[in-house]
This record gives sequence, C-alpha cells and structure tokens, in this order.
Amino acid sequence: MHTLVTGGGGFLGRYICEQLITRGDRVRSFGRGAYPELEALGVEVVRGDLADQNAVVAACDGVDTVFHVAARPGVSVQRLPYDKANTLGTENVLRGCRQHGISRLIYTSSPSVTFAGVDQCGVNESVPLALDWLQQHRSYYSYTKAIAEQQILQANCEQLRTCALRPHLIWGPRDQHLIPRLIAKAKSGRLRRIGEGTNQVDMIYVENAAEAHLQAAEALAQENSPVAGKAYFLSQGKPVNCWQWIDEILALAEIPPVKKSLSQQAAWRVGTVLEATYRTFGLRSEPPITRFLAAQLATSHWFDISAACQDFGYQPRISTSEGMQRLGNWLAEQNRLSI
Ligand SMILES: NC(=O)c1ccc[n+]([C@@H]2O[C@H](COP(=O)([O-])OP(=O)(O)OC[C@H]3O[C@@H](n4cnc5c(N)ncnc54)[C@H](OP(=O)(O)O)[C@@H]3O)[C@@H](O)[C@H]2O)c1
Repeated sequence: MHTLVTGGGGFLGRYICEQLITRGDRVRSFGRGAYPELEALGVEVVRGDLADQNAVVAACDGVDTVFHVAARPGVSVQRLPYDKANTLGTENVLRGCRQHGISRLIYTSSPSVTFAGVDQCGVNESVPLALDWLQQHRSYYSYTKAIAEQQILQANCEQLRTCALRPHLIWGPRDQHLIPRLIAKAKSGRLRRIGEGTNQVDMIYVENAAEAHLQAAEALAQENSPVAGKAYFLSQGKPVNCWQWIDEILALAEIPPVKKSLSQQAAWRVGTVLEATYRTFGLRSEPPITRFLAAQLATSHWFDISAACQDFGYQPRISTSEGMQRLGNWLAEQNRLSI
C-alpha cells in the first residue's frame, strides 16, 4: 500500500510510519519540519502546512490510504492557529482525498471532543460531542478536533471510507509534550496536584495507539466494514489513578512525588484570570492553567473500548508495566545524554 501520514514526524505519527514501513508499505509524511530520522527509515518526507490547500492536495497524489494525524495541540487562548491547522487543515485533507480518489482515511481524534467538564466513567461512543461546552470555555484544541471529527465522519461514503480514533493520553518514549513538561514543572517546583487526587483516567502506550491505526485501516478495507463512518475510544483498557501515575512517571525520572495541591475550584479561578490576561495582551504562549485543564486534571475520564476490540481487533498488546519500563529506559538514556 502507499500511505500518507500527516504529522508523520510527530510523537504518534513517527510510530505509525515505523509500523507501516515494517509491514512493507510505501510511506509519505506531511508536516512543516524536516525529519531526517524518517528519511533514514525510507519515508518520503514532504514539507508543507495543513492550511496550504495546494500543498495538502499535492501530498495526497498517488496514495491509497491517509492517516490524518497532524494537529495543533495545546491550550493557547488564540483561536486562529487551531482553526487553520485543525479545521481548515482537515478540510484540505478531505479535498485531497476526493481529488485523488483515495479510498480510506483514518483520523486521529481525541476523547476530549466529548469532554464537558464533568466525570466520564466507562462511557462509550454514544456520548455526544461537547461542542457547546468546549466553545464556551474556549478549549480551541478540543473544539476544533471535534469539528474536524464531524467533517471526517460525515464524509464517509463508499468511495472514501473514513473513521476517527480517540486515543486518551498517549505516552511512551520520544514524547515531546506531556512527559517533558511534567518533569520540567516538577523540577522547578511548580507542579501542583489539582483536586482531591482520586480521579481515574485512561491512557494509552504510544505503540498500541499506532497499531490501532493500522488495524482500523485494515478493517476499513473490508466489504461492509463496521468501522466506516464511526469514532472509537482507545486506551490501555484499564484506568489508573491520575496523580499516582504522575508520581510513577516522576519516580522514573528520579523526581519526588507531587506534594503541593490546589482545589479544582481554585485552579478554575486562576485559569479564568489567566485566560483573560493572555487574551487581553495577545500572548501567544500557553497559560500554565486554564479552565479546561483545571477540569481535566481533577475529574475522572475513562472509556469503554469494547467497540474498538470488537470492530477491528484492538488489544493493548504492550502492557502498562512493559510500557513504563520502556519509558524508564528512555528517560535514563535522555538523562545520560544530557550529562
Ligand atoms: N498526545 C496525546 O496525548 C494525544 C491524545 C489524544 C489525541 N492526540 C492526537 O494525536 C495526534 C498526534 O499527536 P502527537 O502527540 O503525536 O503530537 P505532535 O508530536 O505534536 O505531532 C503533531 C504533528 O502535527 C504536525 N503539524 C502540526 N501543525 C501542523 C501544520 N499546521 N501543518 C502541518 N503539520 C502540522 C507536526 O509537524 P510539524 O511541526 O513539523 O509541522 C507534528 O508532526 C494529534 O492529532 C492529536 O490531536 C494526541
């Protein structure tokens, strides 16, 4: 197969590229940066911005399957970059798929598209998108991911089969977001537990998330595929206590557990003030806490993944303890290299 992976140079995208190359696909990646490590694997690296229609459409030429993984993440209060990368970018990917007669499109969504500020315990895909709450609370990342997911699923038809995968909290070696940020915050003494510390969350080891993308693509190729036009939650299959897990990650980096805490209400108030301040002064960096983050860090959110298991055979092949060991080895290697 000839596949296109948007965001192939990112954390999840690179694992997807590696697994596709291993099974013998021809792989092209699309993103703004240069990725010599992908080229070394044999991936064709095409550089461009998702907001550039011509560049995206051209990148789809000659391809039969697209994994649309690229997105702008984060909690910045500036909306435009999210609209451009996540909403317009997805429209451009759909245009490219249609113009080049691509038959399968797998979109990396996020469970946060359904997050409305309250606990989600064992919910399945019947839970609706939380468009109103996300827009009202200016969670532009999740809001634009939700709009994009809608566009992708509505586009499903016999010529172009589509699906959306919602992996929760992806972690593992080479993460450049969650784990480095946690470690940096903890080292500087700025990391605070938000809420009671009893909330349960789902998460997923990065190679399991990548494998699910390949499995969903295979299932989409089948006649009358049950996957076509659907969204799926993905996780390790068992939630963890959010703050105990954070302490375990810190322990891998030889950092003491989180001691300071803040109630959810106090974090919400600080988030409200910071969001207003960053907006007023047009600050492009991300506030250290927002209302969305305060709610996410203090509530439980874990999901029923039986649909993914049933429809495309997803199983978390790498266990959480094996994943933590691999993460620990990688952190130790990073530490050794930085000395
Ligand atoms: N990490 C998580 O916990 C998590 C959880 C749920 C869902 N997801 C979803 O999983 C996907 C991958 O996330 P990740 O953690 O791997 O993030 P990542 O490491 O930041 O990768 C994102 C990729 O998107 C590309 N990209 C961003 N903006 C772009 C633009 N305007 N034009 C072209 N390419 C652009 C980046 O490449 P360049 O910078 O080189 O352009 C990068 O390769 C995203 O769709 C995210 O929403 C992630």
